[in-house]
Amino acid sequence: MAVSPRLATTAFNRTFINAPYIVAAIKKLFKSSSSFRNDFRVSPNSLIVGAKRRSDGSVLSKSVLNAAPSTGTSQKRLYSSSAVDSSKSTIVPDFSKYRKSSDENTSRAFTYLMVGTTGALTAAGAKNSITDFLVNMSASADILALAKVEVDLAKIPEGKNVVIKWRGKPVFIRHRTSGEIAEANATQLSELRDPQNDSDRVKKPEWLVMLGVCTHLGCVPIGEAGDYGGWYCPCHGSHYDISGRIRKGPAPLNLEIPAYDFDGEDKLVIG
Ligand code: FES
Repeated sequence: MAVSPRLATTAFNRTFINAPYIVAAIKKLFKSSSSFRNDFRVSPNSLIVGAKRRSDGSVLSKSVLNAAPSTGTSQKRLYSSSAVDSSKSTIVPDFSKYRKSSDENTSRAFTYLMVGTTGALTAAGAKNSITDFLVNMSASADILALAKVEVDLAKIPEGKNVVIKWRGKPVFIRHRTSGEIAEANATQLSELRDPQNDSDRVKKPEWLVMLGVCTHLGCVPIGEAGDYGGWYCPCHGSHYDISGRIRKGPAPLNLEIPAYDFDGEDKLVIG
């Protein structure tokens, strides 16, 4: 292919062209121009050097095409890190004087001792904390004393009522006469709103023990009053008989019997 000298000279007036893929084309371009064959050469490391000369043969200008050898379509490049000796780039301090001199067994024994001691102290502290919490939550001595009440029955004459306080509530204790016991037993269950035999409400016929709280709305009935000779609640007019059973008025149930027991002949324990 014929290329004019002017075109070839213009192409090489550029100082550096770093484009390896055009090397072959430029070589072919200048090799095909016989008039410039002597002014261009290819160096061993693929540098293409061109010169523009005067008519007397002296060099007017020179152009160099820097085209590194290429393999395939990509140019081989070196990373900057590859040029550094990595073995000398990092300096590690010497920590040998800080290392433990004891052997492995000594270290293990010390570790076991520390873990065991810490565990024992933690368990002891937890046990004391739980014990203190439970003691603090349990009932105090004065509350426990109120849980049960002892009553000396010898001081209650026959035919009399005694009212005591137990767990914040009044308790009626009636020392009944033989006539009152007979009257309670003679009542027919069919007459009762809350049918219950007198024998089911007492442990000893002469001692009637029951809570002094009206089953209507919680008033405290009056003893030895009402139409049935037992207790009368003035709040709304409920009448209880000599066994504490509701006989008249709005109360729906008999007076409640608390938990109690006899300790000997003359001692009653409520609660
Ligand atoms: S509270 Fe006793 S009758 Fe109403």
